[in-house]
Amino acid sequence: MHTAQIALVRASWQQLTADYDEVAHLFYHRLFELAPESRHLLTGDMDSQGQKMIELFSITVAGLEGVNRLVLPVLLHLGQRHQCYGMVLADDEVGEQAFLWALKQKLGTHFTPDLEASWQEVYHLVSDTLQLGMREPYLH
Ligand code: HEM
Repeated sequence: MHTAQIALVRASWQQLTADYDEVAHLFYHRLFELAPESRHLLTGDMDSQGQKMIELFSITVAGLEGVNRLVLPVLLHLGQRHQCYGMVLADDEVGEQAFLWALKQKLGTHFTPDLEASWQEVYHLVSDTLQLGMREPYLH
C-alpha cells in the first residue's frame, strides 16, 4: 500500500474505533443478514467477539508498513483457528461486504471512493492471509 493510503486508513480507523463496539455490531448485523447460516457458528458473547475482531484490524492497521514481519504470522495462525471454528471460504466473501458496509454506515460521506479502495486492500490483506491459514493443517 502507498504511504498516502496508509495515512488515509489510519485516520479513518482512529475515527471508527472511537465507537468500535458499534462498528463491530454493524459488521455482525450485516454478516448475519447476508449469511444467516453463519449465525450458528457465533454463539458466544458478541461484545467480546466484536472487540477481538476490531483488535485484529487495529494490529493490522498499525503494522501496514511492516506487514511481512508482524502481521502475516498473526493472520496465518488466526486463519488456522478459523478452520477449527467452522468458517468456510464463502463466509469470507460476505465478510468483506459486511465489513465495508459497516465502515460506510459509520463514515457516511467521509467514506470516499479512495478510502473505500484503501480499506478494500486492507481487508484483502487480512482475508487472503486468513484463507491461506485456513488451508494449513492446524498447529497447536
Ligand atoms: C476478516 C474477518 C475476520 C476477522 C479479522 C476475525 C477475527 C476473529 C478473532 C480475532 C477471533 C477471536 C478468536 C481467535 O483469535 O482465535 C475470531 C473468532 C471467531 N470467528 Fe472470526 N474473524 C473474521 C471473520 C469471520 C467470519 C466471516 C466468520 C464466519 C462466519 C468468523 C467466525 C468466527 C468464529 C466462529 C469464531 C470463534 C468464536 C468463539 O470462540 O465462540 N470470523 N474471529
